[in-house]
Amino acid sequence: MRGEHVYLIGFMGSGKTSVGVLLGPALSLPFIDLDELIVSAEGRSITSIFAAEGEGHFRQIEARLLDQVLDSPPAVVSLGGGTFLPLENRRSIQERGVCVWLKVSLEEALERCRSEPGRPLARDVANFSKLYERRQPVYGRCDVHIETDRKTPENICREIVLRLEEKENALD
Ligand code: S3P
Repeated sequence: MRGEHVYLIGFMGSGKTSVGVLLGPALSLPFIDLDELIVSAEGRSITSIFAAEGEGHFRQIEARLLDQVLDSPPAVVSLGGGTFLPLENRRSIQERGVCVWLKVSLEEALERCRSEPGRPLARDVANFSKLYERRQPVYGRCDVHIETDRKTPENICREIVLRLEEKENALD
């Protein structure tokens, strides 16, 4: 989108990072991964932040770095699975860009997260499922919805580019 950030939102395991690394070059925009930004700014893993100071502290760091990203030149930005949830974050995100929801089924999210450690909120399956159900309606408030189950990051990326082009043409 011209002059705007493109945010990838969605639940853990929805492929935000894998798609973002392809979508940046496809849209000739830099790619920023908010989780990676947090890890490099803090010099420690997300798991360590949760373990040492708890989720509340992690959310403060996340909101602060989100503000930095919002003020930077347009980029494709992969957000963490919880970034879009607080109303204040959501307002600033939607004011400054277009949001793409990568929709994933609970089964596929669980499958993908099981093979990748490092997500403190994915350890307990019951809690993971509860979070998933609670967040779906909030993610649904974003502009573009893309189904990702059984699709490759390349195909998802192509679909997003087409949807953004359609959106832009509709505005012309
Ligand atoms: C979180 C998702 C993670 C990370 C943190 C909290 C969440 O990002 O920000 O563990 O609340 O869903 P991914 O969605 O990239 O796994």
